[in-house]
Amino acid sequence: MTTIDQTPGNLTALLPSVMKFLDREPALLIDGRWQPARSGETFVSRNPANGSTLAKIASGDAEDVDLAVKAARRAFKSGPWSRTKSSDRAQMLWKLADLITEHADELAQLETLDQGKPLNVSRGADIPGSAETFRYMAGWATKLTGKTIQVGAPGDFHSYTQLEPVGVVGQIVPWNFPLAMAAWKLAPALAAGCTVVLKPAENTPLTALRLGELIQEAGFPDGVVNIVTGFGDTAGAAIAQHPDIDKVAFTGSTGVGKSIVRAAIGNLKRVSLELGGKNPSIVMEDADLVAAIPGLIQGSFANSGQVCTAPSRIFVHGSVFEDVLAGLSDGARALKVGPGLSPGSQMGPVISERQLVSITEHIEGGVTAGAKVTAGGGRLGTEGYFVAPTVVSNVSNEMPIAREEIFGPVVVLSPFREIDDVLHMANDTQYGLTAQIWTQNVSNAHRMATRIDAGSIWVNGKSMDIALPFGGFKQSGWGQEKGVEGVEMYTRSKTVVVAL
Ligand code: NAI
Ligand code: MG
Repeated sequence: MTTIDQTPGNLTALLPSVMKFLDREPALLIDGRWQPARSGETFVSRNPANGSTLAKIASGDAEDVDLAVKAARRAFKSGPWSRTKSSDRAQMLWKLADLITEHADELAQLETLDQGKPLNVSRGADIPGSAETFRYMAGWATKLTGKTIQVGAPGDFHSYTQLEPVGVVGQIVPWNFPLAMAAWKLAPALAAGCTVVLKPAENTPLTALRLGELIQEAGFPDGVVNIVTGFGDTAGAAIAQHPDIDKVAFTGSTGVGKSIVRAAIGNLKRVSLELGGKNPSIVMEDADLVAAIPGLIQGSFANSGQVCTAPSRIFVHGSVFEDVLAGLSDGARALKVGPGLSPGSQMGPVISERQLVSITEHIEGGVTAGAKVTAGGGRLGTEGYFVAPTVVSNVSNEMPIAREEIFGPVVVLSPFREIDDVLHMANDTQYGLTAQIWTQNVSNAHRMATRIDAGSIWVNGKSMDIALPFGGFKQSGWGQEKGVEGVEMYTRSKTVVVAL
């Protein structure tokens, strides 16, 4: 049984810059000024490794959102940003990426403290990935173009389209990849020339706030990026329904996604949604298990399973089912679970007590319904929000544990015999975010990729590179982020016709 070592002497020491940042006055970034919430309200962000208070955070609400929207509108319409050339936007985005790289150690510690993930993951993936997102999108700023169109109707016309920024955008991000999700949202919007009101998740506001300081340092004019920390039903809901926001971009639960669609009806603002998943991963009888098993372990338990793309429903051909179940269970038991600041940790805590309860209830519900736990099975320790990497078999596709997004370190495995059966089970879900196929048969891989209803299909391994368009089908979302699609969704196309 894993024990969680929380001995302070065994944890990475905090940088002076991190200590200083945690002590800062709670403030929102509105119109280039750090200011308290109008109401004066604050809340705290916690360290999920031990439940302790990390920092006081300003609790923004509808009034603050309104001020932020006004600032963003001014910046969009009449401020220096409205006259900024695409090459200048590209340079600012690139400068911001450099500042993230320069402050990577500090940002990584803040991310790990606030979110829980192992420090080497924050430092090795989340922070450099965020910098790369700004660099990639900096490139698109100068490459967005319209087209000229020949008119077939009688008459002599010169016609063309031009891409324009969509306007003021509201962006609401979750807590699983706090800085990386803020980057996925901000970078394309800024590349396109929009201005932004960003709301970080209430559990993990720290790196977005530090990013706000770096945004100012990078030279973005006042009001271009406004950051309103606060809760979903106050600040988040105010963004979704604000009449002067032109587009809202959201990542989070499917339930909240639907409430955003309803709220957006007021002014018919555009909506893009990256929602949940219950992603099928199919292991064929000819799969290279030496690659598949570690790939599934990584996919299932990275970030404590709090990943919308996690392969949380694993279907294994009957001929290799026992091997995969054993390999996955051994791998799960071997993972070193501990505080993100402990150098040996491979998996940190889950985000909150609420998430801990929700995850363990899902496991218990599964067991009650007849599922079998072969690794993990519940909470680890009594301090912090740690859940053992859990592998569950003997499930049917009807059980909630096989249907609902658990968003924790829990995977379910089922055997199959025929391709048609497994494709049916894979598609028998309200979600359609990602799917994995493990096989050495190239023809089967392509045929299955065509037949699975999911926005991203990964064969024999995954990549979330910023160049790859990413978005869900069915109730996993609307629109695609990343790639050129990710920038184009922050633009509108205007058709201009001139009779000659
Ligand atoms: P959530 O969807 O409530 O939170 C995500 C963001 O939405 C946060 O910034 C939150 O403040 C905001 N929000 C909440 N209610 C809102 C509202 N009425 N209007 C506008 N914004 C609102 O997710 P939560 O409750 O933290 O996690 C619950 C479940 O959601 C997870 O177990 C997981 O299944 C799913 N989830 C999926 C994510 C993804 O990447 N697709 C990320 C986070 C959660
Ligand atoms: Mg926190």
